[in-house]
Amino acid sequence: MSDDLPAGVERHTFEGTDRLATRGDPVYGEPTDGDWRAWNPTRSKLGAMLELEMETGLEGGDEETVLYLGAASGTTVSHVADFAGPTYAVEFAARPARDLLETAASRPRLFPLLADARKPATYAHVVESNVDAIVQDVATRGQARVALENRRFLDDDGRLLLAVKARSEDVTRDPEDVFADVRAELEAEYEILEARRLEQYHADHLGIVARPQPR
Ligand SMILES: C[S@@+](CC[C@H](N)C(=O)[O-])C[C@H]1O[C@@H](n2cnc3c(N)ncnc32)[C@H](O)[C@@H]1O
Repeated sequence: MSDDLPAGVERHTFEGTDRLATRGDPVYGEPTDGDWRAWNPTRSKLGAMLELEMETGLEGGDEETVLYLGAASGTTVSHVADFAGPTYAVEFAARPARDLLETAASRPRLFPLLADARKPATYAHVVESNVDAIVQDVATRGQARVALENRRFLDDDGRLLLAVKARSEDVTRDPEDVFADVRAELEAEYEILEARRLEQYHADHLGIVARPQPR
């Protein structure tokens, strides 16, 4: 077991396989073991980053605040809200946001926001400033721009945990070229601490851990 897992994330055995798990109601048909449910890294970029032992800086616990951008129906953000404190989940598509509301019903620390992550002013009145982590998985063109626009919410010691999908930027370009451009754009506001291809779990995705540049 990695010592770097956040509190509230454990390794449990499901159907003979060692898996990451959090404690909470099941959301997407994942296997359970008493109170614990498996976290599927092939369905979650953050799950993949933890499986790959990237140093996310996530600690877990009620005090940890998270802004999650691109929550969809809540597959990953449900696990985050199971181990962290207040978790603000931004999703702009109405259909997944409806499912997200259902996911949040049993999770008092999960706050769904039907909003566009490119327009942080529309949720700035709800999200506390100085969150400990921004988790971003928006799979849309302009992924670096979204991270830059939301930096305002992140504590100076906080972490950006970003999954970049190359094909969302440009299906015709070599993913490595796309990742280089995204990294260069991010560096206006962030220092990249770690970057790894998530290939084992997600094709043409880069996982990035970054911290804000000093203001
Ligand atoms: C790959 S899916 C997210 C999966 C999710 N993170 C998970 O692991 O459970 C990307 C999501 O980002 C949402 N999205 C894309 N652009 C967005 C934007 N500008 N603001 C908010 N959500 C956005 C899409 O509607 C979609 O639900």
